[in-house]
Amino acid sequence: MASDVDIELRLLVEAIYAKYSHDFRDYAGASLKRRVLHAMRQLECGTISELQSRVLHDPSVFQALLETLTIPFTEMFRDPSYWRALRRDVMPVLRTYPSLKIWVAGCSTGEEVFSLAILLHEEGLLERAIIYATDINPAALEKARLGIFPVASVREHTGNYQEAGGTAAFSDYYRAAYESVRFDRELIRNVTFADHSLATDSVFSETHFVSCRNVLIYFNRHLQNRAMGLLHESLCRRGFLGLGTKETLDFSDFSERFEPVARRERIYRKR
Ligand SMILES: C[S@@+](CC[C@H](N)C(=O)[O-])C[C@H]1O[C@@H](n2cnc3c(N)ncnc32)[C@H](O)[C@@H]1O
Repeated sequence: MASDVDIELRLLVEAIYAKYSHDFRDYAGASLKRRVLHAMRQLECGTISELQSRVLHDPSVFQALLETLTIPFTEMFRDPSYWRALRRDVMPVLRTYPSLKIWVAGCSTGEEVFSLAILLHEEGLLERAIIYATDINPAALEKARLGIFPVASVREHTGNYQEAGGTAAFSDYYRAAYESVRFDRELIRNVTFADHSLATDSVFSETHFVSCRNVLIYFNRHLQNRAMGLLHESLCRRGFLGLGTKETLDFSDFSERFEPVARRERIYRKR
């Protein structure tokens, strides 16, 4: 028998879907529950039902809940070996195309997009690339568009950049001002940031490379397959898919439709 908390949780996600069209119904149960309980305490609600009532009647409470549910944690050049593998195994093939379309799905506050733009720049490919950077969290997308990050985090991520095989000084790409740094706008000249959900939206463009890291882990098996279907459909023949070390294609319906390119970093190529 379902517990009261599980019933309230189910009603909350149904209410969010009905009111705001954000679909969390197929997110992995345990982590969704953990985050809702965390938000409930943060927003000083006694029960999930109370949280539901506030979410329904106050869109700003929904925005606050969205921040907790979407886990906007990210880093510049996160998991440096992923970027080394892209440089080694993917860039030489992308170089053979006259123009490139790339999709960063679940881009959060943009650190992955700026990292990719820097990598493409260093490989001489940025000029010919169009990048779509999508997420369901509008506040995160707004930060990504600004390209302004706390100086302390950028200092921390300089090590990632070097480990990722960066060929310049990381500081060449930004200007520091007080406690923040602003990344060079040229890096995102050809980037379109957009609201797009892997749970409810469809494919919007054909792409040569899709990077979707640390997103699918929050979905249940059914939603992982839906999302993977979009990524697969978007990729051109022999296009590349980067999932990163925390995800795998192994048990999905799509394992036979890709071949591994870098096993540990979970970079694949469409068959
Ligand atoms: C942990 S962050 C990962 C950010 C970045 N890809 C990285 O690896 O550093 C997960 C991101 O996935 C986004 N996300 C969650 N559900 C999504 C969905 N249905 N469609 C698109 N993005 C989603 C969240 O808003 C969040 O910004």
